[in-house]
Amino acid sequence: MERYIIKGGKPLVGEVVIGGAKNAALGILAAAVMNDGRCTIDNMPNVRDINVLLHAIEEIGATVDRKGPNEVVISGCGIDPEFLTVDNEYIRKIRAGYYLIGALLGRHKRAKVVLPGGCEIGARPIDQHIKGFRALGAKVVIEQGMIIAEAEELKGSHIYLDVVSVGATINIMIAASMARGNTIIENAAKEPHIVDVANFLNSMGANIKGAGTDVIRIRGVETFHDTEYSIIPDQIEAGTFMMAAAATHGDVIVRNIIPKHMEAISAKLNEIGAEVQESDDAIRVIASHRLKHTQIKTLPYPGFPTDMQPQMAVTLGLSTGTSMIVESIFENRFRYVEELRKMGSNFKILDGNTAIITGVEKYVGADIDAPDLRAGAALVIAGLAADGYTTINQIHFIQRGYERFEEKLRGLGGMIRKVETDEEVNRFIFSSSKKNAD
Ligand code: UD1
Repeated sequence: MERYIIKGGKPLVGEVVIGGAKNAALGILAAAVMNDGRCTIDNMPNVRDINVLLHAIEEIGATVDRKGPNEVVISGCGIDPEFLTVDNEYIRKIRAGYYLIGALLGRHKRAKVVLPGGCEIGARPIDQHIKGFRALGAKVVIEQGMIIAEAEELKGSHIYLDVVSVGATINIMIAASMARGNTIIENAAKEPHIVDVANFLNSMGANIKGAGTDVIRIRGVETFHDTEYSIIPDQIEAGTFMMAAAATHGDVIVRNIIPKHMEAISAKLNEIGAEVQESDDAIRVIASHRLKHTQIKTLPYPGFPTDMQPQMAVTLGLSTGTSMIVESIFENRFRYVEELRKMGSNFKILDGNTAIITGVEKYVGADIDAPDLRAGAALVIAGLAADGYTTINQIHFIQRGYERFEEKLRGLGGMIRKVETDEEVNRFIFSSSKKNAD
């Protein structure tokens, strides 16, 4: 089993280049199957969730031509409308397979897709997606773990989402882009990747206005044309490196980002005493001393993202005083606390959704498990900040969403290796202790 071995205690210093946004890419790649022409998509992150989705897209007959690790050309022209079933052992484990319901329903008026998996961070219902498809005129049933959606015709509709949902907003937007007439989605989510999926759809001929606000207006079109599109930078990957800089008391320039998307994270880092310098497409985080406590509540964009909660918590676990984090999006997002405790942290969880964090001066290395994608990345940050050696197991979770993570961290001076055998662990310990002695 692959795992990370980390020798911590060294500030991260240098520059790191951020890749394309995973959560935008998932919506964009799924939407591409609606186009019988060519969709050339660049800045695609080469991570596990993306590769699983691409494989599923190929399985239903679409053409997936990989031009390199971060570029792909997709065409939906080979899809057999008689065979629109999406199911394999891998797609069951990711969340975004459900965007193929919106895409296939929009284009072919039917879809059969396995119920979504994804990180176990809460119940994660999909009632709002289904409500949207039904409002567009589809009949939707769940049978033997499959969502089956069918319509004679999709008709534009007025949909009010009961909860602000990223997934439901994207999925309904995708389906409605090929429905007859006008659709209005109210109480829509406003995340940058929603704007990106809308921009991609528009680039191939859709007519979507208002993405990025809470009212999205869509005028359905009948066909799409060829497009070339570059995915926006990953806000969460960027935030993860910003936190890694802060927690290790480092000095890191995070490049190829949109600083506006980082505002909630930059503001909190500023508040706890880190220096955050913004330029056009980069942010530099300098944390030369121990940081301070604060209070945070996760919220939909432009609030503090739930996907940055564990990384922020790990940073606050090393800050002075007592911090509080309220997780308001998902009910099961503190599973990493048990692991972090093994490293000497002082967290108390109240009512399942509130962490009271009393900062400690240092974490100590331990043998721990990554419980999910973002928490896994947060534990890597803890390992980099800790005294001694940390082993992180279950890193397949981290590989779902971070491309060349350990390589990028090594580029900042982080002592981290992906290893499989005990012999490799010993070799790492030997070489890293030698490095220290040098
Ligand atoms: C997406 C992201 C995930 C991020 C989350 C919130 C992807 C692949 N994943 O997940 O990384 O943490 O947004 O920013 O893009 N809800 C319902 N009914 C629904 C849909 C959602 O009650 O039909 C609830 C959820 O349980 C949750 C809240 O709405 O409490 C927000 O979920 P949502 O925004 O849909 O998250 P995902 O799209 O699953």
